[in-house]
Amino acid sequence: MTLFGHPLHPMTIHFPIAFFLLGVGLTLLYLWTAHTERRQTEVERFAYWLFLLSLAATLLSSIVGLIDQSQLAIDDPRRANINSHITAGLSLLVINGLLVYMRFRWPDVLLSRRWSYVGLMSLGVIVLLLTAWLGGELVYGLRLGVRGN
Ligand code: HEM
Repeated sequence: MTLFGHPLHPMTIHFPIAFFLLGVGLTLLYLWTAHTERRQTEVERFAYWLFLLSLAATLLSSIVGLIDQSQLAIDDPRRANINSHITAGLSLLVINGLLVYMRFRWPDVLLSRRWSYVGLMSLGVIVLLLTAWLGGELVYGLRLGVRGN
């Protein structure tokens, strides 16, 4: 899928990566001060909004990626690598969705269920990096989406 001849998936994937990692950073910043006078509730609320934004951005980039990969020949050997990338991308979607659900269901999740939330968030960082690395392998290792391939 292209916009004025430029592939769209690489244009969209920076947003989930940036929103998610910033959400993680602000959540940790809030936890740092959660039990002190300096507690910053607006930082925590901003982190929640970042996870909402990263969920929407992951969904959008996944849809664009699915359209891109549908243009590849059905017997292309690189399909196995794309499938690993898709599995990681969909896992990220589920993890991000669970983080948003937990914060929506229990607004005090960072105090009442802190370790489940932080554990899920850490898993999200690993899966995010894996998704991006597998995507990079597709382009720079297997030359997928590069003109003439
Ligand atoms: C689950 C659905 C997804 C599919 C079907 C998919 C498919 C693809 C395909 C076919 C490519 C090769 C280049 C291209 O056609 O643009 C690619 C590259 C890439 N993807 Fe995905 N993708 C998905 C989700 C994601 C998500 C959620 C992320 C990041 C959070 C991501 C990160 C990347 C990266 C970093 C590249 C390398 C781009 C570059 O350096 O030019 N993908 N993906």
